[in-house]
Amino acid sequence: MEHRIINRREFLKIGAIGAAAAAVAGCAAPAAPAPATEAPAAEAPATEAPATEAPAAEAPATEAPAAEAPAEGASGKLEIFSWWTSGGEVEALNGLFKVMQERNPNVEIVNAAITGGTMSGGDMKAVLQTRMMGGDPPESFQIHLGGELLVGSYVDAGLMEPLDTLYTDQGWDKVFPPLLIEIASKDGHPWSVPVNIHRANVLWASNKPFEEIGATPPKTWDEFFVVAEQLKAKGMPAILLAESNPGFTAQVWETMLISIMGAEKFRGLFTGDTSWSDPDITAGLEMLAKMLDYANPDYLATSWADVNDLLIAGKAAMMIQGDWTPGVLWSKDFTEFTWQPAPGNENVYQMLSDSFPLPKGVKNPEAAKAWLEVCGSKEGQDAFNPAKGSIPARTDADVSLYTDYHKWAMEHWKTDTIIPSVVHGAAAGLAFMTDFMNAVNVFVTNKNVEETQAALVQAATDAGYKV
Ligand code: GAL
Repeated sequence: MEHRIINRREFLKIGAIGAAAAAVAGCAAPAAPAPATEAPAAEAPATEAPATEAPAAEAPATEAPAAEAPAEGASGKLEIFSWWTSGGEVEALNGLFKVMQERNPNVEIVNAAITGGTMSGGDMKAVLQTRMMGGDPPESFQIHLGGELLVGSYVDAGLMEPLDTLYTDQGWDKVFPPLLIEIASKDGHPWSVPVNIHRANVLWASNKPFEEIGATPPKTWDEFFVVAEQLKAKGMPAILLAESNPGFTAQVWETMLISIMGAEKFRGLFTGDTSWSDPDITAGLEMLAKMLDYANPDYLATSWADVNDLLIAGKAAMMIQGDWTPGVLWSKDFTEFTWQPAPGNENVYQMLSDSFPLPKGVKNPEAAKAWLEVCGSKEGQDAFNPAKGSIPARTDADVSLYTDYHKWAMEHWKTDTIIPSVVHGAAAGLAFMTDFMNAVNVFVTNKNVEETQAALVQAATDAGYKV
């Protein structure tokens, strides 16, 4: 575990990206080259999108033979990186591919999705970094809208194209909420195209355990601990955690902080209004330590893929995760669950967005642009989001295509206080996001409140936040 944390930290901090960013900023000599061993290029299964997964290719055959028609749309190879390999994610991505293929029948989609990149996209991100730094970018890749791309990352490293023209030509300035455009932008330019809006702070509760104890899912953390005791008495973990990689528990902890400090004060952690030395952070860590007693005891060896199966198997009662969760559960035909805001998160919508950018120097810029047009289109978003669990980034979606969960989220998006997620790249830059996840990952092994807050204060100092 420790080995992994140190490696990842070094990879992100002094590895390829950091070196390039520092070189661009002219403030330090490039650090060590990207450690090849941590970027398992050999494991990157760049697979051709199976023909069956792009059924659109079959459709136009009879009407207007593509081969004879004057070149329609883009052509050639289009390589798309993502970490979408789980149920719900795959269907959603294929929805985008289908629209892409319909509009550009001569494009050959290469689906370079990498398994094992869940939560923060671990393996996929490492492989991508190697490709980007080696001057061999894919046409586009999945990345969270915001700091993860913009700050101390590819944009600062000068590796991305600004997307002003695309935004204007496609009218996206009118159909994406201003907040999303703000999060997508740095130095006055938008740098990626949001395909969705995910909500991070949702509690997913399995029906059966609650029926067994005759209780309802908790609305506050106080209620959580009462219910957790009842479940514990029955030998059942109240909450699932997956900390085989940093990220999962950090996300759960964000919802605790929101509950303790409220949305505005939480936002202030990233605007310089709230100090990372604040006693609420201490209280949050103490609460997290308490919660660990009610989690699946093997959380250090549990992955994000495992927790979904554990919930389905009735091995635990709850999970706090983003709304990719229903996508996974539906794909496994599991519907015996309910959802509500994470405890103490009523009327707060903690958001993140998956997006696609345009690297400089791609082999097929025409196809890359055609892909981004699909990502930002109404058709593309309505093909992607129903299976993914997220709501469309566009405000003009066809609501009739969506489930009750989506409709619930769409309503809350309109009325709640919106705040960005740290773990999912929207609130902070890449270095802080990584430090934050690592600090919590260490905390769940040692429960050392003082040391962890000191690590967070150090990370906040490095990022220029208030300490
Ligand atoms: C998030 C991503 C989601 C989903 C999830 C899986 O970071 O935004 O789309 O892939 O990871 O863990």
